[in-house]
Amino acid sequence: MNNKEINLPNHLGIIMDGNGRWATEREKPRWEGHKAGAKNLETLLPYIYNKGIPYVSIYAFSTENFKRDKKEVDYLMDLFITIFNKKLSPIKKMGVKIVFSGRRENIKSEVWKAMKELEEETHQGKKGVLNICLNYGGQYEIVDMTKKVAELVLNNQLSVSEITKEKIEENLYQQLPPLDYVIRTSGEKRTSNFMIYQAAYAEYYFPNTYFPDFDEKEFECAIEEYNKRKRRFGGN
Ligand code: FPP
Repeated sequence: MNNKEINLPNHLGIIMDGNGRWATEREKPRWEGHKAGAKNLETLLPYIYNKGIPYVSIYAFSTENFKRDKKEVDYLMDLFITIFNKKLSPIKKMGVKIVFSGRRENIKSEVWKAMKELEEETHQGKKGVLNICLNYGGQYEIVDMTKKVAELVLNNQLSVSEITKEKIEENLYQQLPPLDYVIRTSGEKRTSNFMIYQAAYAEYYFPNTYFPDFDEKEFECAIEEYNKRKRRFGGN
């Protein structure tokens, strides 16, 4: 494809699914799948920003993922600390601002500390934004936004007639443009509570590849597919 003709999403979402199956099919423990997924992300993210996509949101851990076996949850939390402290330097050097979406509750303090440090360290980044959804659920985001808006009304800082789409968006976890394209790897065809408000008009892509194998080549196929979509936003 000629580079000049490529249409890129402004905001890309990735549901990084299939780590567990990737490991099981190789007769490895599930944690090895998460480790391989993290390694893949380390190279995929710089590739995506270099390509010219400014906003990326990734689903690292859903609120419901806390129901998993404690050992797996503990492994993932330790993996997150390592990633946040050490593995994101290529995109940090590029000037990507890193933010988080999700609830504070149940996140152990070491993870929270690493998250806060990463946000502070990168807050002036101008190259793009990486929004990491951790202990995240789209329905909870809407609940939390509603509580914030209700507080404003109760404190007479906002009247009911002033509750607009813009006001709602101002009170979501992060102020980001709408999602244009959401990729969910592993062949599962569900949205699983991922940024349901922001994805209202997003295109979806469900490749069969497990996330650890979703490399640059696979990503190019996803972009090729995006270019075949005709986005109408409810019009004709
Ligand atoms: C879903 O696969 C994946 C997760 C719950 C964890 C995703 C985390 C990473 C890829 C590590 C990188 C993270 C950050 C924050 C940079 P699954 O375990 O549900 O796979 P399965 O459906 O095959 O069991």
